[in-house]
Amino acid sequence: MGLAEAHSDESGRAERPGRVAGKVALVTGAASGIGRASAVRLAEEGARVVLADVDEPGGGQAAKEIGGDAIFLTHDVSDEASWQRVLVEAEARFGRLDVLVNNAGIVVAGDIEQASLEDYQRIQAVNAQGVFLGCKHVIPVMRRAGAGSIINISSVAALVATTGLRGEQGRRAGADQDRGDPLSRQG
Ligand SMILES: NC(=O)c1ccc[n+]([C@@H]2O[C@H](COP(=O)([O-])OP(=O)(O)OC[C@H]3O[C@@H](n4cnc5c(N)ncnc54)[C@H](O)[C@@H]3O)[C@@H](O)[C@H]2O)c1
Repeated sequence: MGLAEAHSDESGRAERPGRVAGKVALVTGAASGIGRASAVRLAEEGARVVLADVDEPGGGQAAKEIGGDAIFLTHDVSDEASWQRVLVEAEARFGRLDVLVNNAGIVVAGDIEQASLEDYQRIQAVNAQGVFLGCKHVIPVMRRAGAGSIINISSVAALVATTGLRGEQGRRAGADQDRGDPLSRQG
């Protein structure tokens, strides 16, 4: 049995309806870490999950382990055309999209004095621009479905000064600032 069918409670006794049963969820950065764990949990709670990541082997393996309706799509969150393609494919496959977990992110550790402008721009492209593009392009899809939830994964680094997290603080602050606006406008 794939994880997607495992809807029993912790004691393994009774089957219960999952908390997101029937929903379709897209998780970025789903090949590893928090994204992968989120995809597993969403599937356990009854969602049909689209795992998206630049890591094709890792993402494919994660989708295979989840089983059921879970699929993997290659996706670079920093690329607008990639967002458009993934959302078209997800909607074509499942007919709707209810949940987006904007999770993909990178960390480049080190001192700002040693950082290159290219490093900084790469962090911004993935961690801030990726969140913006996800919100921008998923809202029309969710509007067609009638509703939706966007979960933007940020970091305490956006709020608390930390040494050695190059570019992380600014981008997380940016993602946090952006976070409420598109959603709150949807009411
Ligand atoms: N792990 C922590 O302690 C922690 C703390 C605070 C915030 N976060 C945030 O949580 C999120 C997940 O962190 P994690 O620890 O699971 O990281 P991770 O490195 O385990 O996973 C990140 C995933 O994102 C993917 N990815 C990288 N660039 C991508 C891109 N351009 N497009 C699509 N996918 C891409 C990677 O391939 C990887 O699978 C990140 O946004 C991170 O900043 C993590």
